Amino acid sequence: MTVIEVLKAASGHLQKHSPEGARLDAEVLLAKALGLRRLDLYLQFDRLLSDDELVRYRGLIKRRAHGDPVAYLVGHKEFMALDFEVTPAVLVPNPDTEVLVQRAVALARQSAEPMRVADVGTGSGCIAIAVAHYASNAEVWASDISAEALDVATRNVARHELAGRVHLACGDLFDSLPGTFDLLCANLPYVAAGARLPAEVTAQPARALFAGQDGAALVLRLIEAAPAHLSSGGRLLAEIDPAIVVAAGEAAGRAFAHYTIHRDLGGHERVIESWS
Ligand SMILES: C[S@@+](CC[C@H](N)C(=O)[O-])C[C@H]1O[C@@H](n2cnc3c(N)ncnc32)[C@H](O)[C@@H]1O
Repeated sequence: MTVIEVLKAASGHLQKHSPEGARLDAEVLLAKALGLRRLDLYLQFDRLLSDDELVRYRGLIKRRAHGDPVAYLVGHKEFMALDFEVTPAVLVPNPDTEVLVQRAVALARQSAEPMRVADVGTGSGCIAIAVAHYASNAEVWASDISAEALDVATRNVARHELAGRVHLACGDLFDSLPGTFDLLCANLPYVAAGARLPAEVTAQPARALFAGQDGAALVLRLIEAAPAHLSSGGRLLAEIDPAIVVAAGEAAGRAFAHYTIHRDLGGHERVIESWS
């Protein structure tokens, strides 16, 4: 079979399972199976695949059809125009989180002084690394309760040559983070236990997704604890699901003098920013 023939067959097969992005997924996975860049496929539509290549590609397409995220199959994901290693130990960095990072970078760039930033629940390290990459005055301390996630974050910190300005520690929320911070960032789990989710989401670690019966438990703990970990004039940026915006707003109203909500590119209430 040629490149164009396997692409047509694979995208038709994937379309039955998940119509959105089937052709793109088929191309990304074929590029992975052949060790090519995706764009190179377009120059080689008539190339014949070897038996080994076909077996490798069929394996990837089978896993994709069962719901494995493409990022786990290819081993990396772009976020904030930076490339991150991802494995099934971490949440796949999500474009919805970019609004939080953009706000954090804007706040850091408003200051001429060095900024102490924390990233609570760092996962792959994508927030901590992107903030440090785009705000050269930021030094970031990042925590996660999962040692396996921190292994991935450690490799991503090295990949982006930020070991001097991004420090990782294992622990619950702020437990392993030293001192106070000018800016606290967090994308903690916020899905309600028992929520019905697509296979692509449930393939990701439960610890990165679920937070109590209504999904608000960890975000509320974070907001309540945050003031004790902020320097004077500091701010908290926490990613939320629109379903918990009321609970998060009430908690922020109790813990801080002010809060505001930022929407993501899809128009959903996505980040709560709080300060006193
Ligand atoms: C939704 S994922 C987000 C990962 C990453 N920040 C991102 O935006 O892609 C949440 C992360 O929080 C971590 N986590 C869960 N409970 C935690 C806790 N109590 N303290 C610290 N980290 C926690 C999980 O292991 C997971 O890596």
